[in-house]
Amino acid sequence: MFDALAFLSAKRDPRAHTASDIEQFVQALTRGEIPDYQTSAWLMAVRINGLTSDETAALTLAMRDSGALVRASERLNGPTVDKHSTGGVGDKTTLIVIPLLVACGFKLLKMSGRGLGITGGTIDKLESIPGVRTALNARDAIAQASRVGAAIVAASKDLAPADGILYALRNATATVDSIPLIAASIMSKKLAAGAQFILLDVKVGSGAFMGSLEAGRQLATRMIEIGQQVGVSTSAVISDMDVPLGRFVGNSLEVREAVATLLHPDAADPRLLQLCIYLVAHCLVAAGMANSHEEARQRATQTLSSGAAAEALAKIIHSQGGPANLDGVLASLPQADVTHPVTVDTCGRVSKIDAYTVGEISLHMGAGRVTKQSPVDHSAGIEFVRGLGSIVQAGDVVAYLYYSSDHKEDCPTWTARLRSAITIEPVDSNWQTPPVILDTL
Ligand code: URA
Repeated sequence: MFDALAFLSAKRDPRAHTASDIEQFVQALTRGEIPDYQTSAWLMAVRINGLTSDETAALTLAMRDSGALVRASERLNGPTVDKHSTGGVGDKTTLIVIPLLVACGFKLLKMSGRGLGITGGTIDKLESIPGVRTALNARDAIAQASRVGAAIVAASKDLAPADGILYALRNATATVDSIPLIAASIMSKKLAAGAQFILLDVKVGSGAFMGSLEAGRQLATRMIEIGQQVGVSTSAVISDMDVPLGRFVGNSLEVREAVATLLHPDAADPRLLQLCIYLVAHCLVAAGMANSHEEARQRATQTLSSGAAAEALAKIIHSQGGPANLDGVLASLPQADVTHPVTVDTCGRVSKIDAYTVGEISLHMGAGRVTKQSPVDHSAGIEFVRGLGSIVQAGDVVAYLYYSSDHKEDCPTWTARLRSAITIEPVDSNWQTPPVILDTL
């Protein structure tokens, strides 16, 4: 019988767990034998006292083994890759990068998460499309990936179930921003899926769980070490999350932006596009499908312009129960009851948009979960019509808030908060858009 109190006391004091203690904990957790209050107490102890590299690796492997091992690289015909973001505001890269990788010849079984804290999650975004199922079992996910190139699925009873349980509790107990918990959550899913290459998009900045480049490098290094330990080629791109990524934040709004990016890349947000192309180019080089980053970048750009990635996304969505084509997807997305314009009262250049504040507003508008049971309003979110670098006049509309009429009384607060998140500086001809790619490990 697993001794939960002894396990909790060890991390409270703090003493290191053995790999066997961690395995027993994860097995008991997965069998549903540990009440949420004990798991939450352990999560908080880990958030405060940390886990060693050995403990983190043991947790990752135990979480990986809590469900089926899919072994995608053995079961899918073609190069297999997996990419995962540590989470950000407006981060819809998965919905662009996965179909683009498919169009470049990769096969993917991608396990994604729901929104965590102020950050959005791919599963919530996909579920904003009526009919789409994300709870695929391993067999169906592999069958779909063989047929259409990729499946995008949630942690479930079948796939890394321990992550599903911990993930939901972390979100409701302020224990998300912990390097070992993030590393184990992400790497357990990636290793359970079993691709040949793992590419991590580690976000840093106010809208990410890692506030500084240094912390981002530590998280990336911890995950790369775990990958190396089990012989899976793993690398990381560190990217900026001080500013929301792209023009839209919120589930269905981000699906719209991802679809628009695939259909009309020339009109896409430049930082979003640059990051997506960089991530795909990195995978092409890692898989030996291009000789240099520049060659890979050109190939990714041409493939995107050909429309093949848009077709790949349509097939993935349709296979998972959604509409048959992207026009159908766009027509089916839920629309908010209220659209409220936000104006600025000074003229100058939009030099910063604080990602944390934007994520927090959108969470409270209903785009994320405040408790484990909170319903998600898939239509809620924010659109920036005058984004980073735009020159604005007093009175210009810079953004729209989309929300449910149930929240009418909160609109003045959200409007004021959003204005406070936007920095407008005198126009200076030397101003440059801050880089989106900060490092590659
Ligand atoms: N994405 C995950 O899957 N887990 C985390 O903990 C953070 C981001």
